[in-house]
Amino acid sequence: MKKILKIVTVVGARPQFIKAAAVSRAFAEFNKQSDDVCFEEQIVHTGQHYDENMSKVFFDQLKIPHPSVNLEVGSGSHGRQSGLMLEKIESILLENKPDWTLIYGDTNSTLAAALAAVKIHIPVAHVESGLRSFNRRMPEEINRVVADHISEKLLCPTDTAVENLANEGITKGVHQVGDVMYDSVLFNMTLAEQSSTIMDQLGLKEKSFYLATIHRAENTDDKDRMDGILNALSQIDMPILLPIHPRTKNTLGAEIDKLGSRIKIIDPVSYLDMLILEKNSRVILTDSGGVQKEAYWANVPCVTLRDETEWTELVTAGCNRVVGSDTSAIMDAVEKAENEAAQGFACDVSDLYGDGHSADKIATVLGEQGD
Ligand code: UD1
Ligand code: UDP
Repeated sequence: MKKILKIVTVVGARPQFIKAAAVSRAFAEFNKQSDDVCFEEQIVHTGQHYDENMSKVFFDQLKIPHPSVNLEVGSGSHGRQSGLMLEKIESILLENKPDWTLIYGDTNSTLAAALAAVKIHIPVAHVESGLRSFNRRMPEEINRVVADHISEKLLCPTDTAVENLANEGITKGVHQVGDVMYDSVLFNMTLAEQSSTIMDQLGLKEKSFYLATIHRAENTDDKDRMDGILNALSQIDMPILLPIHPRTKNTLGAEIDKLGSRIKIIDPVSYLDMLILEKNSRVILTDSGGVQKEAYWANVPCVTLRDETEWTELVTAGCNRVVGSDTSAIMDAVEKAENEAAQGFACDVSDLYGDGHSADKIATVLGEQGD
């Protein structure tokens, strides 16, 4: 008889769907191979992201098991959004009594699930544990610090993340498993190349455009920062494709029409389309966490529109420039990135993010509990 291990996975935001897809696949694979343990995973969607192109498209395309429930919490202030989630997740956990609550990253969905679980003594496993920006004004930094301090299994993507935890006195339950987003890129790139038509749809040619994403609250909610970034984008002498996050679309409003014809704004794209756009772009400008690493995996120079990053290894290795929102600092970095692109950019730091089997390692770490 196999021991059943019940997992409640809580996700709510775009990058979490992508990460959870890799781990759900690994659970299914583990179940086929283990004689001792069988994972029974239930996915709870908080409803933090709800537009079709911010949610459903990822479940469909990445074949993520259908959520057993969507809490439909929607948008709101931090307190309201997290509070509603907390109450609803607690009921689900009390009803299901899982062996583990599995959480991802640093969103309000992450924090709410961690808090709900720990208070009723259900252990928490945190994927992408140990990342730090050391900027406590970022809501994500608060979410990840709290989540890490109340998690029992801390599943770290990098050595730096392990060190960050050690510096906060956390050494028990820490596992360096690598980055599940790397698993995801390796698994999905061929599929993307076979199925995506985005380049033709948009009339784009390989290495003839820059790709930009902006959604970080510290940028969208600060007019000076947004102005600095948009000024830079409008000065860049190259077509720029900007799949726009709904937060940014709301902030910009009518300003969108004044950005000039070289900046093409489109709705958020699917993950497979995004991988293709990243791979074919010349330079990537972003304030996203995930996109910084995807730029590296796609071998495209990255300019990060933030004052700091959690993924410091890429900066040290010279693959990524962190420049903030100042127009001239951005333009300076873009010039350097453009030169690198022209000369054939190559940035390869071996073993930074694991071997593409991070999700398997996560399944093994959690599965060992059942032995
Ligand atoms: C959240 C995470 C952030 C992560 C990002 C991934 C927090 C605090 N932030 O930021 O760490 O990088 O997700 O994309 O959890 N909206 C829609 N439709 C949607 C979703 C959002 O219109 O489907 C709009 C709403 O106006 C909402 C705003 O976007 O108020 C912000 O959404 P929210 O989920 O609060 O934060 P994100 O900026 O998406
Ligand atoms: N992404 C996507 N479509 C888009 C923009 C981003 O599929 O239009 C993917 C991107 O490839 C990466 C993830 O979303 O895998 C990053 O999510 P986001 O930037 O929203 O959040 P962050 O990583 O900053 O938390």
